[in-house]
Amino acid sequence: MKYKQMFRVALLASALLGASLSAYAEDNKPIKVGFMLPATGTYTALGNAIENGFKLYVSEQGGKLGGRTIEYVKVDDESDPAKATDNINKLIKSDKVDVVVGTVHSGVAAAMAKVAKETKTLLFVPNAGAQAITGPMCAPNIFRSSFSNWQPGYAMGEVMAKKGIKKAVTITWKYAAGDESIKGFKDSFTKNGGEVIKDLNLPFPNVEFQALLTEIAALKPDAVYTFFAGGGAVKFVKDYKAAGLMDKIPLYGAGFLTDGTLEAQGGDAEGLQTALHYADKLDNPKDKAFRSAYETAYKDMVPDVYAVQGYDAAQMLGIGLAATNGDVSKQAELAAAIEKAEIDSPRGKFTISKAHNPVQDIYLREAKGKENVVVEVASKALADPATGCPLK
Ligand code: BEZ
Repeated sequence: MKYKQMFRVALLASALLGASLSAYAEDNKPIKVGFMLPATGTYTALGNAIENGFKLYVSEQGGKLGGRTIEYVKVDDESDPAKATDNINKLIKSDKVDVVVGTVHSGVAAAMAKVAKETKTLLFVPNAGAQAITGPMCAPNIFRSSFSNWQPGYAMGEVMAKKGIKKAVTITWKYAAGDESIKGFKDSFTKNGGEVIKDLNLPFPNVEFQALLTEIAALKPDAVYTFFAGGGAVKFVKDYKAAGLMDKIPLYGAGFLTDGTLEAQGGDAEGLQTALHYADKLDNPKDKAFRSAYETAYKDMVPDVYAVQGYDAAQMLGIGLAATNGDVSKQAELAAAIEKAEIDSPRGKFTISKAHNPVQDIYLREAKGKENVVVEVASKALADPATGCPLK
């Protein structure tokens, strides 16, 4: 009898130990982060900088967020919206990632957001500004660490109107990022007395600008507002200068025109003023530490806005996971923690709106040598209108 009792106690103890060991193993198994970023095409450098920034923050935390080791898988999205649904489904269904981080291109990101919303997969958007993502498609499990396309455009429209510019021409790629950047610009420029006399565009990622530059020269506006980024931005600035327009018709843009591109533009962007939520060497301790850590980690590569957005996506995930002790399934707690945080970013501190888009300062910057230097804060704590988002 005594022997039987002892046997039962031993059995119970070993069952309990087994259960708690398997819970421990479950809690401590790595969190799989799936990067869906461009590794080919005009946005390649942007994707690399995002991945570098994200990994830098995680390595500063000893490789763990919320107490759990972070491991990575990745897919090249090629900035191709037609492949986006298959690519994110591969990450979620075959690679079984816990979190998706991506991407750069608005059309690709919108397709990702649809799948993330349907499958309730955590998604952190580290660049693409498509307004729908934090508008009609907003969801408790989707967050953006970057901007909405509207934000820099709106800030630049105010600046240009204040400079007394009356007639502007816009030029961009014909897709969500370009259209929404121009819309933001027009919202404030026309409200402040400006007039857009012509909208010019070409399909993404074409860089045959010549005919459009000839048209700009003929239209003779007071100034041009533009959205281009990555390799396309390098070519556009060089072509604008080569066409002899730089001294005749002042060129302005969303800051992607000169961010991460100045080296390749080889001086042709000198003096260009743009609006963005980051500038080189902001006077804050976080930015100083970030830039020095980035340059050390990536062998003298200089960080840009995309690296900052990647870094901040990891910070946001870290804030969420700290609140849930590393449990990715507790999405409501994770979202609540991010929504109430003040994120200490190299761009300056910012908060996340109910629609999950940054509320942040937009800087007016000027290209000087290889840096985009701050001129002033163009728009303080600017929030995207988040039209159509039921969460706001
Ligand atoms: C976009 O597609 O949303 C985008 C791409 C590059 C820079 C900024 C925005």
